[in-house]
Amino acid sequence: PRYFALIPAAGVGARMAASGPKQYLKIGGKPMLRHAIDAFLFSELIAHTYVVVSADDPIIDSIVPSHGVTVLRCGGATRMESVRNGLAALAPTLRENDWVLVHDAARPGLDEALIEKLITTTGEHPVGGLLALPVVDTVKRSIGGELGTLSTVAREGLWLAQTPQMFRYKLLREALSAARDPNQITDDASAVEALGLSPKLVEGHPRNMKVTLPSDVRIAEMYLATAQP
Ligand code: CTP
Ligand code: MG
Repeated sequence: PRYFALIPAAGVGARMAASGPKQYLKIGGKPMLRHAIDAFLFSELIAHTYVVVSADDPIIDSIVPSHGVTVLRCGGATRMESVRNGLAALAPTLRENDWVLVHDAARPGLDEALIEKLITTTGEHPVGGLLALPVVDTVKRSIGGELGTLSTVAREGLWLAQTPQMFRYKLLREALSAARDPNQITDDASAVEALGLSPKLVEGHPRNMKVTLPSDVRIAEMYLATAQP
């Protein structure tokens, strides 16, 4: 089988509130997006890597390596639409049964070992698989709005989704075109689950955290400065 990487990188980073899109923030001297790209470039299992940016992105050309990566300037209004547009642009290139590993540009801690773990553990699973971490905190649900009374959600069986999430090209395209509300579909697996299918969970690693808030930057720097386990 062939494995391709698709990195949605067309977000604005509203919660980071930096002076530009967060995927270009430097972590350990290197833009976050470049960390994500390099993880796939170093993996011998990945045939090619595609990055989805917005049509008017002024920075991508200065950080993308000259080989092994293709930039698709077809980002959409939501992550789901960016992935959907990227997959549509690959129609002439990819085959129905090719695997696509979709990975957030905002996860700079990905490494070859996690990519290979995901691929080998998912194997030929009929649906696909994703990296995820078991929930360790006690989880509360507010019932009456933000400050409403609380109930506790049993954490047994709860996982936090990470990326990459790998699905066959045809299935992922179908799932994303069937999805109704792009704001509800915050990862690829949820679109596939909406078809009634169950992707496989593969335990990820905390270093593969998503950098979302300003306080995440230093934590990501710490992980990247630490030797991989
Ligand atoms: N993404 C995208 N297109 C969008 C929105 C998000 O390609 N219209 C990408 C982001 O660039 C990021 C990944 O999806 O790599 C995960 O999204 P998130 O962490 O939410 O990034 P942003 O949407 O940029 O951040 P925020 O939600 O705080 O604005
Ligand atoms: Mg977002």
